[in-house]
Amino acid sequence: MYKRFENKVAIVTGAASGIGRATAVRFAEEGAKLSICDVNMEGLQETERLVLEKGAECLVSRVDVRSWDEVQACVNRTLERFGTIDILVNNAGTGQFVPFVMIDDDEYNRVMDINVRGIFYFSKAVLPIMMDKDYGKIVNVTSIMGEVAGQGQSIYNASKGAAKMMTQGIAVDCSGYNINVNAVAPGMVLTGLTKNMLGDPDQAQYFLERIPKRRIGEPEDIAAAILFLCSDEASYIHGATLHVDGGMMCTRM
Ligand SMILES: NC(=O)c1ccc[n+]([C@@H]2O[C@H](COP(=O)([O-])OP(=O)(O)OC[C@H]3O[C@@H](n4cnc5c(N)ncnc54)[C@H](O)[C@@H]3O)[C@@H](O)[C@H]2O)c1
Repeated sequence: MYKRFENKVAIVTGAASGIGRATAVRFAEEGAKLSICDVNMEGLQETERLVLEKGAECLVSRVDVRSWDEVQACVNRTLERFGTIDILVNNAGTGQFVPFVMIDDDEYNRVMDINVRGIFYFSKAVLPIMMDKDYGKIVNVTSIMGEVAGQGQSIYNASKGAAKMMTQGIAVDCSGYNINVNAVAPGMVLTGLTKNMLGDPDQAQYFLERIPKRRIGEPEDIAAAILFLCSDEASYIHGATLHVDGGMMCTRM
């Protein structure tokens, strides 16, 4: 197998499950050294096992992406262990299924801090390293729900819209460096975030009817797009959001 990421060092946040785990495992298959983090240590240890199984090196850190101190400590540990950072995948995220009028400050802060502040902190901690060496790839995992609204998801919609625009803003501020900053916007993917919703046959059917590809996405579908954007084949793609949604965004069926 052609390995696109031999000797590259990649940080993947929210790597304990779902899209983050699939991304870490794909990077491991393609030769990268992994620094994975999450708040869920049990899930993270299972991801570590899968990464080591592929023969890759793996550093595991418990990090709440809402904490600047924890983010900085993770970046420092990664530098101590691997000497550099080439790739950052800001994947950690949370959902929200609460009608707008019932959202209180705590819920607003929880969703915005994990989905937006997390990207701010990790990108801010890693970019000076990438700027110094004039090489880097950042991919933020946003959502098609950052571009269309969903019932009971107003703050999630706002957070993913903000993440999309932060991607573009960081991309502009990195002009002049050999750094690419992009976003992947998944549609409907079966993970911990969606398993309750998709476990309901009526809801699953509702979505299937709205996905032109007529299947729910797999975490590996999203991981493949993330790896592409982190590869040098994508070096002219910058500030873009790639929908990986089985065609959901191109129709209003
Ligand atoms: N599953 C989907 O259909 C879908 C659709 C669009 C976007 N997304 C996005 O994909 C990303 C990954 O989600 P997923 O679907 O794999 O769900 P998931 O729940 O399996 O994974 C999210 C991970 O983020 C971690 N996390 C949550 N809060 C954290 C924090 N404060 N600090 C560190 N880690 C934290 C969780 O522990 C979990 O391991 C998220 O950003 C999500 O919004 C998912």
